[in-house]
Amino acid sequence: MKNNLSNIKKSKYYLDKNECIGIPTETVYGLAANAYSSKATSKIFKLKKRPKKNPLIVHYHNLEMLKKDCSININFIKLFKNFCPGPITFILKLKKSSKISKNVTNNKKTLAVRFPNHQLTRTLLENLKYPLAAPSANISSKISPVTKEDVIDEFGNKIKFVLNGGRSKVGLESTIVSLVNKIQILRLGGVEIKKINKVLRTNIKFNKKSKKITVPGQQKIHYSPGIPIRLNIKKPKIGEAFILIKKRKKSVRNFYYLSKKGNLKEAAKNLYKTLRMIRKKKFKSISVEKIPNKGIGEAINDRLTRASKF
Ligand code: TXA
Ligand code: MG
Repeated sequence: MKNNLSNIKKSKYYLDKNECIGIPTETVYGLAANAYSSKATSKIFKLKKRPKKNPLIVHYHNLEMLKKDCSININFIKLFKNFCPGPITFILKLKKSSKISKNVTNNKKTLAVRFPNHQLTRTLLENLKYPLAAPSANISSKISPVTKEDVIDEFGNKIKFVLNGGRSKVGLESTIVSLVNKIQILRLGGVEIKKINKVLRTNIKFNKKSKKITVPGQQKIHYSPGIPIRLNIKKPKIGEAFILIKKRKKSVRNFYYLSKKGNLKEAAKNLYKTLRMIRKKKFKSISVEKIPNKGIGEAINDRLTRASKF
C-alpha cells in the first residue's frame, strides 16, 4: 500500500511535468498524459506513431470533472449509473468552454470519455487537476498491453514510468457508444451490447460493415501480432501455433489455450497475452479454433478478425 502511494505520487510528478506514463485500467494499459495540455498530448501521438487525425479517449474520476468538458444527456446518465466505473466509453458533445487540447479531439466537436475501473488509476485521477487522455499503450496497429511488462515491451525506456496495477481484468478494450445524435455502437468491447440495449430499452446492433471509419478499432488491420492468422480452424498446419478456446486432454507444444473450460470472459482476458507470447516464439503463422460468437465472444472474434487481415 505504501508502495502504491509513492508510485501514485511519482505518476503525478511526471504527469504534472507534461510527460506520458503507462497507467493500468481494467481493460488494457493506457499511455496517459494531461488532456488539457497540447505539449503532453502531442507526445502520445509521437510515441505511438499514431495518425494525428485519430482522436483519443479522455479518462475521468467523476461526473463533476466531466461536466466541465462535455454536455451530458439522459442516455448517458442511464448508462453511467449502470456501468461506471467500467469498460465503456461514451462519445459526447464537447463544451465550447472545455480546456481539452485540440490534439485530443482532432478539432472535432465531440469527445470520447471513460471512467476506468482500476483502484490505482482512480486514486491517481482523484489527485490530478486535469483528466487523462490515454489510448491503449501499444504502437499503432499492434497488440494492446495488459501488464506493465507489455507496456515496457512496446516502448522500452522511451517512457518515463509505468504505474504497475497488475494484470488487466477484462483484457479487451472498452465498448464505445456514441450518444451524439443517434445512438451507435462504434466498437465492441468489455460491456456487451445486450446489456446496453437492456438499460436503454433499445435494439441497437453493431454494424461491422459500416463504411465510414471513425474509429481505428474499426479499421481493417489492427491488434496485429505481425504474422498471418487463420480463423475457424479444426486442424492446424505443421509448425503453426494453434489457439484453442478450451483445454484439451492431450497437450501439444504449439497449442495455446485461452481458457481451461471454454469460459469466454477468461478467454478475453487471455487473448492479447497469448498473441504477444506467440509472437515472441517466432511461429510463421497462427490458426485459431472457432470461438462462440456470443457475449464477449463477439468482441474476441472482432479483434481476431482484424488481427487476421495481416
Ligand atoms: O479500454 C479502452 O478504451 C482503452 C483504455 C486505455 O482506456 N483505450 C483505448 O484507446 O482503447 P484507443 O485510443 O486505443 O482507442 C480509442 C478509440 C479510437 O479508436 C478512436 O478513434 C476512438 O476511440 N475515438 C476517440 N474519440 C472519438 C470521437 N470523438 N468519435 C469517435 N471515435 C472516437
Ligand atoms: Mg488501441
